[in-house]
Amino acid sequence: MTALAELRRPESDIIQQAREKLIVALDFSTISEAERMVERLGDEVNFYKVGLGLQLAGGDTFAKSLLKKQKHVFLDYKYFDIEETIRNAVARAAELGVTFLTVHGAGGILSAAVEGRGNSHLKILCVTVLTSLDAEDIKEMGFDCNVEELVIHRAIKAMNAGCDGVIASALEAAEIKKKTGNKLMIVSPGIRPEGSPPGDQKRTATPCEAIRAGADYVVIGRPITQAADPKGRASEIIKEMASALAHI
Ligand code: C5P
Repeated sequence: MTALAELRRPESDIIQQAREKLIVALDFSTISEAERMVERLGDEVNFYKVGLGLQLAGGDTFAKSLLKKQKHVFLDYKYFDIEETIRNAVARAAELGVTFLTVHGAGGILSAAVEGRGNSHLKILCVTVLTSLDAEDIKEMGFDCNVEELVIHRAIKAMNAGCDGVIASALEAAEIKKKTGNKLMIVSPGIRPEGSPPGDQKRTATPCEAIRAGADYVVIGRPITQAADPKGRASEIIKEMASALAHI
């Protein structure tokens, strides 16, 4: 069957595969707004990211309620602390039953996170360089290299520490796969469908470009959550991802 014929089937496997790769970022300040969005997106979206905006608004309880609805949860709390604290904090996140958790930092911190998740199903994702940062920003932070060098360096350290994957822009995905021998899962934020305003994101790619570059998951917030019809927007994006998957 051709790629086009495959896409015409009402709910082809490839659409389902694309749907499993979409993570919608619920960047709201109240749980009720986030709940309304989950309700509106219905069966179109199966994976949600709960981040810092909801952490103190009851993020953990909300994460549990998503799990009860059979949704997958990415807890984007970007943990960064001394090893003992990280080990402990990650163990608590693992008990929640979420799928992904983000951590920052160097070797010892990352290894402690991996120890903290123990035998649970939690996957540890290391943040490489935020997609809202560019060359000027990392220079200001004291790094004397370009963004891609820093991303690759941090991805290799994450792999050596036993992390399951990294958060990285789609612009660096192909190079990370190459330099780490395909051993890391790549989760890419900074995704902007054609015509979407970048907002604060500086290293962006379209959903199609991200899939073609080798992103295993894409994280999309505002282009879906601020659309007039979030469910319709998510559906279009899933179709775009599916068409990219069909050509890989
Ligand atoms: O609205 P937008 O699509 O820009 O949302 C992207 C999401 O991904 C935000 O929740 C942001 O916190 C998160 N993120 C990111 N860059 C990273 C790590 C996480 O944009 N490197």
